[in-house]
Amino acid sequence: MVQQVMARGEASFSDLSAIAVTVGPGSFTGLRVGLAFAKGLGLALGIPCCGVGVLAALAEAPEALPRRVAVIDAGRGSLFIQLFETAAPASPPERLTIAESRIRIMQRFGGAAFSIIGPGEAGLADLAGAEAMDRRFPDPVQIARLAPLDRPGAQPLYLRPPDAIPKVTTTEVATASAAQAEVLAALHAEAFLETWSAQDFRTLLESPGVAAYLAFREGVAAGFVLTRAILDEAEILTLAVQPEARRRGLARQLIETAMTAAASRGARRLWLEVAEDNLPALALYRRAGFRETGRRRAYYVGVAGVRDALVMARDLGA
Ligand SMILES: CC(C)(COP(=O)(O)OP(=O)(O)OC[C@H]1O[C@@H](n2cnc3c(N)ncnc32)[C@H](O)[C@@H]1OP(=O)(O)O)[C@@H](O)C(=O)NCCC(=O)NCCS
Repeated sequence: MVQQVMARGEASFSDLSAIAVTVGPGSFTGLRVGLAFAKGLGLALGIPCCGVGVLAALAEAPEALPRRVAVIDAGRGSLFIQLFETAAPASPPERLTIAESRIRIMQRFGGAAFSIIGPGEAGLADLAGAEAMDRRFPDPVQIARLAPLDRPGAQPLYLRPPDAIPKVTTTEVATASAAQAEVLAALHAEAFLETWSAQDFRTLLESPGVAAYLAFREGVAAGFVLTRAILDEAEILTLAVQPEARRRGLARQLIETAMTAAASRGARRLWLEVAEDNLPALALYRRAGFRETGRRRAYYVGVAGVRDALVMARDLGA
């Protein structure tokens, strides 16, 4: 296809000075194939490959109103959506249900006239102020125009956890990446009253020394541990197992994985904090060889009241 386009444009590959490519959101396979091809071509030609958000590119429609909603069907009743106001993003790219998308638009535009651009506008076109524009793809000219030539690089923008997870019949622990931030946030929300967002997990996982490990039961993510290792010290930032998967040794396996991984990164001691009244966690940590080393007064302040934190630590074997 690319060769055909080049032939129609009467251009040769050596005429190219940069490649612009959309980075999603979109289907995993489409994104991977597209990005791998664009990057490979850039590498072979020795020219930069620059990523452009597909929703930003869709929103670049000269005939649209100043307030714009770019939207793509994300399957299973959800949409990839981003709002723009006079050419600037008015929200991040998000994956929302149709109901959440309607709220987001009304919160931001409050009934003022706006254009809905994209193939996924169904379910939004009856909103006050909406003018639907059925546009199936971003305009390649706009993609080229938006390409950040001063900032080469094209990282895929995944807004959905992967559907394909390893099928195992027993418990298996695997390293989690920032792409699984939504899975981690969902597991965390089932275990704690104070929730952490997917963005919180993404930010943590992109910071130095932080790693997460997911435990799968029958191929379904059922628990995780988040750790940070700096020089010869490591800490458990959080640990959670789904209520229906508890007392089957998942947390123990996660802690063992965290200890081995921290030791292999050079850590000699593993630390953690635990609420003084969290008896299951205290029992778990004591059994895993952690000992109390201190107490932080009134450390946890939240919907569950004020509680001290116990500081616990254990040495990691040589
Ligand atoms: C604490 C938590 C992670 C334990 O997960 P889990 O997978 O059920 O733990 P395991 O099955 O690996 O348990 C290992 C050992 O911990 C102890 N333990 C775990 N849950 C316990 C409970 N409810 N009561 C007493 N001891 C418990 C036991 O010694 C257990 O061994 P055993 O089952 O052979 O008796 C889980 O209850 C949870 O997610 N809680 C909410 C979130 C949380 O408090 N996280 C820790 C924050 S610091």
